[in-house]
Amino acid sequence: MRVDIVTIFPDYLSPLTLSLVGKARERGLLDVRVHDLRSFAGGVHRSVDDTPYGGGPGMVMRPEPWGEALDAVVGRGTGVGGEALDAVVGRGTGVGGDCSDAMRADAEGLPLLIVPTPAGVPFTQARAEAYAREPWLAFACGRYEGIDYRVVEDARRRMRVDELSIGDYVLGGGEVAALVVLEAVVRLLPGVVGNAESLVDESHAAGLLEGPAYTKPPSWRGLDVPAVLTSGNHGEIARWRRDQALRRTAERRPDLIAALESGAVSDPDAAAIDETIRSHRGPVAD
Ligand code: 6GU
Repeated sequence: MRVDIVTIFPDYLSPLTLSLVGKARERGLLDVRVHDLRSFAGGVHRSVDDTPYGGGPGMVMRPEPWGEALDAVVGRGTGVGGEALDAVVGRGTGVGGDCSDAMRADAEGLPLLIVPTPAGVPFTQARAEAYAREPWLAFACGRYEGIDYRVVEDARRRMRVDELSIGDYVLGGGEVAALVVLEAVVRLLPGVVGNAESLVDESHAAGLLEGPAYTKPPSWRGLDVPAVLTSGNHGEIARWRRDQALRRTAERRPDLIAALESGAVSDPDAAAIDETIRSHRGPVAD
């Protein structure tokens, strides 16, 4: 997968050299390029923002630098240069400017452009899975009060654009949101997470939160691991884990329980949900 990120704070993306994403890059599964928006801004001051039409607080990012940047980065679908992330953050080796043949072939089209904004559609695990199937993602990270909206309208003339929110709170800019999205997406790429099974039962994959996990020692500070987990009875263990997931979800995210499709809820499932609701509401009045 190829990823281009346009930002006025390239250093904000330096975590992409670390951990899971950094390893995916070192292994050639991922080609990340970070671009400084300011290098596409003209004038001696290279200004990227201006006051909003119609008045109001804050500043809006000017369309011209964004138009130039997106043309240069994704313009004809062949992609151009950009600094390899390591060059931007000044350390490491990893993947340089050249992409593999597979990446080059995939990049013949245009990327899916993601514009992080608190006014976007919600980022979910289902969306992460869809993004993981894309050969090329580009992020336009805005700051201030947002980007002149004509930039989105113009980009939509030639590529798919997702205005995306990572939650109901306001960030100072899209950079951290891009990091969040990439961490969620990259771990789904084939070969990135060692044990593919660990992707199956995890929170949100089946619309439920994952229950608690335990490891050795069996007793710690007077707290014992639930006996069923050391019983060796795989049927009982699976049922217990399912009940824990259902109870935790019913307690913390009743919206997810309401969204479960009826076919996904067995009789024992319904019993675990009902018991959780009863024990938290107390006796029913009527
Ligand atoms: Cl994706 N961007 C910004 N700037 N703020 C946000 C957000 C994104 N998601 C929630 N708040």
